[in-house]
Amino acid sequence: MADQVIIFDTSLRDGEQAPGATMNLQEKTHLAGQLENLGVNVIEAGFPASSGGDFEAVQAIASQIRNCEVAGLCRCRRSDIECAWEALNKAAFPRIHCFLATSPIHMEYKLRKSPEEVLEMIKQGVGFAARFTSNVEFSAEDASRTELDFLVQAVDAAIRAGATTINIPDTVGYAQPEEFAARIRYVLENVPDSDKAVFSVHCHNDLGLAVANTLAALRAGARQAEVTVSGLGERAGNAALEEVVMALKVRKDYYGLETSIHTEQILHTCRALSMLVGQPIPANKAIVGANAFAHESGIHQDGVLKNPETYEIMTPESIGRTKTDLVLGKHSGRAAVKSKLEELGYNLDEEQLVIVVDALKKLADRKEKIYDEDVEALVLEEVYRLPDQYKLEDMSVNCATAGVPPTAAVVMQVRGESRRFASFGAGPVDAVFNTINSIIGASPRLHRYAVNAITRGTDAQGEVTVRLEYNKCTAVGRGSDPDILVASAKAYINALNRLEMKNEV
Ligand code: KIV
Ligand code: ZN
Repeated sequence: MADQVIIFDTSLRDGEQAPGATMNLQEKTHLAGQLENLGVNVIEAGFPASSGGDFEAVQAIASQIRNCEVAGLCRCRRSDIECAWEALNKAAFPRIHCFLATSPIHMEYKLRKSPEEVLEMIKQGVGFAARFTSNVEFSAEDASRTELDFLVQAVDAAIRAGATTINIPDTVGYAQPEEFAARIRYVLENVPDSDKAVFSVHCHNDLGLAVANTLAALRAGARQAEVTVSGLGERAGNAALEEVVMALKVRKDYYGLETSIHTEQILHTCRALSMLVGQPIPANKAIVGANAFAHESGIHQDGVLKNPETYEIMTPESIGRTKTDLVLGKHSGRAAVKSKLEELGYNLDEEQLVIVVDALKKLADRKEKIYDEDVEALVLEEVYRLPDQYKLEDMSVNCATAGVPPTAAVVMQVRGESRRFASFGAGPVDAVFNTINSIIGASPRLHRYAVNAITRGTDAQGEVTVRLEYNKCTAVGRGSDPDILVASAKAYINALNRLEMKNEV
């Protein structure tokens, strides 16, 4: 039987640290539910001591998730560990995840601690965490730049203090696959009780090697991979869950390893995250990009028609890409909508279902065919954004030829109060954004504006993503609508709401 690899998903913690990727509580609990459906073994739900929002999210996820472990991150400090345990103790399978840097540069400049002091902090921190649960993970931050023999001492101290998982992170994405594999082997061979813990890796993608390093480490004996959906994470991101999992599945002959991931849920999970954080999946993204299974060259098309395996190493169905995802129309009733939502992983209550059914009917009046992506976009917009501070009520835009500048009139809610204004702009989008700025009395800087068609056809919904900056804080927003100006306003307002979550507007 093949060895099992534990899939530890940190999209809600490291992933959420990606610029602009903030999620609200409902969005986080929804993603956690989807990660459970996907079959991950551990969900790292947040860093409870870092903010009230993180604490609340870890606590909510710990109470909700029953089929996998829920982890909370903490420094090797008593107050962090107590806080993590307070957030985690309702979990079916809680895990305390302590970390401390072990590289010379981090110890000297960041921690200002000697190696001996760091070893003592590991002993004290892990030992304290082990009083609450037997499921304790220790991460030696910046392990790939840590002196090998000191890494062995740090890992040894953590295992002796009660850690049952040892994580070797490539925090700055510096490692190279063969070198990283050799490091894992060295630690496994030189820590006396290495068989008492599961070894884990956590690789960042600064040199584009996060997945390669993760796979090399698994071949060298690590049995936990810390990953994020679509590789979302700090800077260039983390190892992408879908790439690690599919590499292990497609090349089982090479790795001899298995995971518990229900791979048919992969595409849906990646799409859900992309919509939640307002970051579209690039067309050429491995496994889940729109072009990942598209064959353009005549020779390839001919080969695939004769035998798909000529150019396809996995089937589109194996990652959840169905050929016919056309689902609902004008006459679809409540039961059909409910069953489609369940298939997509959304278990909505009655009130939420009514909201979605109504919104779908309105959309079906404007758009002939409704696809899975349309349904997901609607749920995220209509259900998961209800507690927003800013909400679009109505708008109209007038455009003309040269001489008359475009004008926009917007009616929107600002903290429950309806406000209206009209103004000009260089173009219609500029007019809409200027008007919203006048209504809220602030002018965030627009760093990115992108429009994408969610599905095919000229009546497809436009999906707009924007990135705003205000007071040195950035947020991404996403909006969809068959009218791209309305989608633009929704995206802008969504980004404002995310800035508001960070108390910036
Ligand atoms: O990259 C890193 O080292 C981390 C640790 C906290 C595990 O995210
Ligand atoms: Zn990290």
